[in-house]
Amino acid sequence: MSREKKGIVLSLINQKGGVSKTTTASSLARELAKDNKVLLIDFDGQATLTELIDLYSHYDEDFLDEYFKENTILKIFNREEIYPIDVTDIVKEGQGSKVRINELHFIPSPGNSLSFAAESVAGGKDLLLKNFLNKIKKEYDYVIIDSLPSVSTLFKNVLLASDSLIIPIQTKTNSIAGANEFIKIIDETIGDYGTSYDNLFVLPTIYDKRKKDDKEVLSEIKTSYIDFIKSREHVGKINIVLLKEIPERSVFSNAQSYRYFIQDYVEQFDSGKKDILLLLAEIAKKITDTISKKGE
Ligand SMILES: Nc1ncnc2c1ncn2[C@@H]1O[C@H](COP(=O)(O)OP(=O)(O)O)[C@@H](O)[C@H]1O
Ligand SMILES: [Mg+2]
Repeated sequence: MSREKKGIVLSLINQKGGVSKTTTASSLARELAKDNKVLLIDFDGQATLTELIDLYSHYDEDFLDEYFKENTILKIFNREEIYPIDVTDIVKEGQGSKVRINELHFIPSPGNSLSFAAESVAGGKDLLLKNFLNKIKKEYDYVIIDSLPSVSTLFKNVLLASDSLIIPIQTKTNSIAGANEFIKIIDETIGDYGTSYDNLFVLPTIYDKRKKDDKEVLSEIKTSYIDFIKSREHVGKINIVLLKEIPERSVFSNAQSYRYFIQDYVEQFDSGKKDILLLLAEIAKKITDTISKKGE
């Protein structure tokens, strides 16, 4: 048995797609994995993260076929054991990275079958992710969950398993109305279940400072959106933290099409973009500092 670790579960949530949940989950997990032991979970049937962490390019095909049969996150709905896969060497050797890495483990998504499985399981199905993580989270400092754009049973599993929540919001017109609706859903769910959270982080994403709309939405996020969260009965009691906005930059999609973590991509192919890495490091530090302050 390894030494007991922090075991903090952080989830990227928003019922809207394309707001940078997956991108943020991967960059945050990679950032935290520099000095910590991190588990990254692909909890989305779209399996974007599972495509990014291209296991097939690094592990033997027969081994992976066997592994995928037994070890996707789907297994929690059968109440079966899952063994996370150690991807530290994929990053270290496969991506030839010079960015330091301590330990990064990963649980892939099985694709579309995830949603079917969740809906077909009877009884206590909202707590299956939490129960599974309770068994293994103390082996990790941080568990990062990339979630799906919906408010289904799968989403409830994510909500109930998390210690802190991160809501990425794209700084585009019409984002706020949907974001407010999403807050209402979270508020009702945590009211129904009586759950509480240490922190709720709000992260404006894909921000283009040259666009008037983006500027207006960013300012709304900082004011009326935060006020709206604070006004809700249950969510309003959580410590709400506004993170620095992440700009819209092509380096994010470039790294993704190379199937690299952004830190490793910039370090190797695009070293002019180090400002982005500094920003990601700053955001990750804000998150971990806030979490450890709460725990004192
Ligand atoms: N800061 C950013 N700048 C530019 N493109 C981004 C940024 N963040 C994410 N993207 C791109 O936007 C798309 C949606 O991002 P993704 O993380 O998959 O969103 P989600 O998981 O919320 O659906 C992807 O093509 C991704 O590469
Ligand atoms: Mg996604």
